[in-house]
Amino acid sequence: MFQHKLLAGIRTLKTESLANLRDQTRITAIISEIGLAYDSRGPYGDSNRYMNNLGPGLWQVPEQLAQALCLLSELKLRSALEIGTFCGWTASVLTAYLSRFEPQFTMLTVDPLNLFDSYEEIRHLLPLSYRPGCTSNDLTGQSFDLCFIDGDHSYGSCSEDYRIIGQNSRVCMFHDINDWRVGPENVPRFWRELKAREESQESSFHEFNYHSESELVMGIGIRTRRM
Ligand SMILES: C[S@@+](CC[C@H](N)C(=O)[O-])C[C@H]1O[C@@H](n2cnc3c(N)ncnc32)[C@H](O)[C@@H]1O
Repeated sequence: MFQHKLLAGIRTLKTESLANLRDQTRITAIISEIGLAYDSRGPYGDSNRYMNNLGPGLWQVPEQLAQALCLLSELKLRSALEIGTFCGWTASVLTAYLSRFEPQFTMLTVDPLNLFDSYEEIRHLLPLSYRPGCTSNDLTGQSFDLCFIDGDHSYGSCSEDYRIIGQNSRVCMFHDINDWRVGPENVPRFWRELKAREESQESSFHEFNYHSESELVMGIGIRTRRM
């Protein structure tokens, strides 16, 4: 029902100038136009009006994702993995966006469930592979320029995803580093400990936690490393 909005957003991302794609205001608007995943609790603050009514969408605070994308656009990423596909909207947007900056860019997204209903159409448009029924355990030994960890948000599972793939990736991005529903003892704790352990001349940490009402909702953390 809302797939046409995702497809329109992909078209925009494929045709917009690179200067506009690096403009946080413009990319926030593109994300908002695509629409956000419906959540009756209305977690997105001012951006609640961009929810796709009772439908799928981006599970993102637009400003957070826009700021993260602008940073990623500078990092010459050629390969990426998303752990936790859900409906595939974020994977689609990441692929459409990052492939504009590196023509050879490819992305893989994995999830134990199979909820990416629009994949049949998307796979003809984007260099995006999808493996339902799969977790980081099935990818041992593989490495990616970017690893986006957004699967099971428990401390243990997040640690495993990082140990198996994230730590070998030049760039590792986490969703929900600042989310009260996820709970401070889960991804937020892992992110805090990772910063304490790895922040150095080689590794930098970036946080995008904007929320119009200053609530602890989602939050994106990116660890970059010179390799
Ligand atoms: C919050 S959703 C992901 C949202 C998606 N990244 C997005 O931005 O739209 C979490 C997803 O992780 C999946 N998941 C749960 N445990 C997982 C695991 N161990 N490995 C990979 N994915 C997992 C769930 O099935 C669910 O679809």
